[in-house]
Amino acid sequence: MQSALELPSPPPELMELSHTLGERVVDWIEQHGPMPFDRYMQMCLYEPGLGYYFNGLHKFGQDGDFVTSPEQGSLFAKALARQIDHISPEWGDEWVLMELGAGSGVLARDLLSHLENQPSQYLILEPSATLREVQRETLQSAGHHERVQWIIEPPSDSFTGLILGNEVIDALPVKRWRLTDHGIEELAVSVEREGEVGRLAWTGITPSHRLKQAVDELMDQLPHALPVGYESEILLDLPEWLRTITQSLSHGVALFIDYGYSRETFYHPDRAAGTLVCHYRHRAHFDPFIWPGLTDLSAFVDFSALADAAQGLGLDVGQFSTQALFVLSSQVHDSFASISDEQERLKRLSEFKRLTLPSEMGEKFRVMALMRNHNTPLLDFSSSIK
Ligand SMILES: C[S@@+](CC[C@H](N)C(=O)[O-])C[C@H]1O[C@@H](n2cnc3c(N)ncnc32)[C@H](O)[C@@H]1O
Repeated sequence: MQSALELPSPPPELMELSHTLGERVVDWIEQHGPMPFDRYMQMCLYEPGLGYYFNGLHKFGQDGDFVTSPEQGSLFAKALARQIDHISPEWGDEWVLMELGAGSGVLARDLLSHLENQPSQYLILEPSATLREVQRETLQSAGHHERVQWIIEPPSDSFTGLILGNEVIDALPVKRWRLTDHGIEELAVSVEREGEVGRLAWTGITPSHRLKQAVDELMDQLPHALPVGYESEILLDLPEWLRTITQSLSHGVALFIDYGYSRETFYHPDRAAGTLVCHYRHRAHFDPFIWPGLTDLSAFVDFSALADAAQGLGLDVGQFSTQALFVLSSQVHDSFASISDEQERLKRLSEFKRLTLPSEMGEKFRVMALMRNHNTPLLDFSSSIK
């Protein structure tokens, strides 16, 4: 595949891997026609042996393509631990913490180091075998690996406790769509050939009934009209995914942290190109056809859709606000003044700023709490945000 963007070239063996995945996409398109974008995103991230999270090449943190909040340091985990220590006493001694998509495992490691009220079971639901191995090594280095059980589907027995997902919903494959003057079309992936060279490109196809209906319903809910040419994403499988994840939670809280907006802001007329973003070696760009398998693809989360899905499942929708207010509500910064080592204090302060400043991760990242049969209010991080 060719790229018009100036990005650092991967080493030859990684180019080879990306070409293999690209060829697999092209073969599919040649057999079946344009590939719906959710299938393409699924292959780019999760194709066995080749996808971004499944090829064993993925590096987290500064050596990787992007840095998540738990990768900034231990402050995010400490903030979460304060919140969890506050709400978990009502769950008694036997409660489960199920972390979804644990990445490098640093959040699990740091939570197990900082929670005062420890879970009786720490489960990591992680579909990627190579990431399960990375997580095991991270936990082993802190002596916590025997406290964690890895699972590839949610437990079937009911449990009490917490479900935690940081930057997981943004990695679920989305449909892309565009408004035309004759209605909605689905955006799919096609192959444009110039001689021997094939290039992946966007193309419009007739949307499935399900997609058309979902986008029609979505537009009915918006207070504004969207212009012709408007492109965006929708996570059609969100209600079913949430059902599977939460069905065994009989008493407790599910906390989702991700970049996203409420519906009105997500589908604002000004956001006319959607929210799909690609990360490659700390550069964000918007061309998902560059280096498939080596590039992270993600889309912002429509938190109104998450709240609607939760209500449809009988979950209570609790607080929803920014990561900044969530971190502030835990008062983790209170301890900074007592750190005597100047260097250490500055390090903490700069991590705190990265997590909370609007220009960094403070405003873009949102936190939503969902509850089932849970009574203790969370430490207050609520505000009226869009
Ligand atoms: C962007 S990474 C976030 C990693 C980590 N939570 C963090 O904040 O550093 C997305 C993670 O979600 C996992 N994942 C993808 N689909 C998933 C699913 N359906 N259920 C659970 N985890 C999933 C990926 O394998 C990866 O570990």
